[in-house]
Amino acid sequence: MTNHYPPGPDTNFVQAIRSTLRQQHDRLGFLIDMAQTYGDTVHFHTGLRHIYFLNHPDDIHTVFVEQADKFYKTRPVKQAFGKFMGQGLLASDGELHRRERRLAQPAFHHKRIEAYAEIMVEHTLRVMNQWCEGQVYAIDQEMMNITLGIVAQTLFNAEVAGDAETVGHSMTILQDGVIRYFRSLIHLPDWLPTPQNRREQQALAALDQIIAKIIHQRLATGEDKGDLLSMLLLAIDDDGSGMSIQQVRDEVISLFVAGHETTANTLTWTWYLLGQHPDAWAQLLTEVTTVLGGRNPTLQDVAQLPYTAMVIREALRLYPPVWVITREAIAPVEVAGYRLEQGNVVVTSPYVMHRDPRYFNDPEQFRPERFTDGWEKDIPRFAYFPFGGGPRICVGQSFALMEATLILATIVQRYQIELIPEQKVALDPLVTLRAKQGIQVTIKARH
Ligand code: HEM
Repeated sequence: MTNHYPPGPDTNFVQAIRSTLRQQHDRLGFLIDMAQTYGDTVHFHTGLRHIYFLNHPDDIHTVFVEQADKFYKTRPVKQAFGKFMGQGLLASDGELHRRERRLAQPAFHHKRIEAYAEIMVEHTLRVMNQWCEGQVYAIDQEMMNITLGIVAQTLFNAEVAGDAETVGHSMTILQDGVIRYFRSLIHLPDWLPTPQNRREQQALAALDQIIAKIIHQRLATGEDKGDLLSMLLLAIDDDGSGMSIQQVRDEVISLFVAGHETTANTLTWTWYLLGQHPDAWAQLLTEVTTVLGGRNPTLQDVAQLPYTAMVIREALRLYPPVWVITREAIAPVEVAGYRLEQGNVVVTSPYVMHRDPRYFNDPEQFRPERFTDGWEKDIPRFAYFPFGGGPRICVGQSFALMEATLILATIVQRYQIELIPEQKVALDPLVTLRAKQGIQVTIKARH
């Protein structure tokens, strides 16, 4: 083990400032540049903090799996998310996180989420039915409408229907707040009555009121409505204890936030890629029409749509919604032959790793067939990790893959989605990897 830092761009104070500023306006470009210039382990600064950027799957494995208990979520992530989702799964750590995970995990068991297939197709049809032939749409917004409806119904069943608009609106404000937090170098305290703080507080109060109302109604009847909220309320740990109301509330908001933009994002990039690859589109259509023959997909069809699943996996490779995953060391720990001190930060990037030519031939090319026959198993575990890994692996992974498959199959069968020619699509790596100006498409009915 060495005390020296890995190679990197900052050997003095001025360079450290330069790195920090560059990350502020081009974080993704900066990371790609670092990996290409310095290789598997890179050291740089963000402000005063020492960052270790890992580009080898084995070192990422060390952090996420072997030494997972030496790493917590980073302070900025906890502050930005924790402010409205408290100690939910996304922002908690240590024993608290392990307990929450034990309690929440059963809600995502295969058998349980299978019951949601129908809801997923239903919400897709609901949004599709509003589309007008030949019109231009921002496909990112349309996908968001679908996944927001799905997460609301799978979390709270139908009870949120009357409040759906308030919930959607409040969520957008809070998510914008998180994005602003990561964008700005200076953070004003939450108690300052700035217009932004006030907007966020109002949104949070509205959301809290709705969630509290639903939780109390449920507690009063004790009824299992078959949704995620019922699972959380009924969850019992080994010692017989369950979640407090506050914990359930934190978890509900965490699942809401984690559970819709990521999938909407995946689908948006899928349409973008399919729009540029007519061969892949044709193959997808053949599979979907052969299996479904015009009817709506069901849970049983998901396993019969392997090419559809490969298209989604390849979109997740090229445009992983969670494009960067960070951790902070809570104790001295060795990674990649270097000694990290408490407070040092590890950065990993699915976006950068997924383009590494050591593991992916022609990495920039969209080739769904590379995922044929579980090919993923032949590459190191953390060469491809759109859902993270180890004890904090995405709890909603199966939910998301089933959802994306059902939405894609439902739409492909009925509509042709064409990209508006010559639009500039730029990446916007904020909390998730968005398209900067959205993606405009023409939606045409298939006859
Ligand atoms: C394609 C869609 C999705 C992608 C790419 C994705 C990706 C991820 C990733 C990379 C992590 C790990 C973050 C880290 O280690 O710091 C994560 C965690 C998480 N995801 Fe997802 N996710 C998706 C969909 C969902 C859905 C649909 C839900 C819930 C309904 C969900 C709920 C969560 C939760 C609660 C966590 C925190 C888990 C923990 O720390 O124990 N995700 N997700």
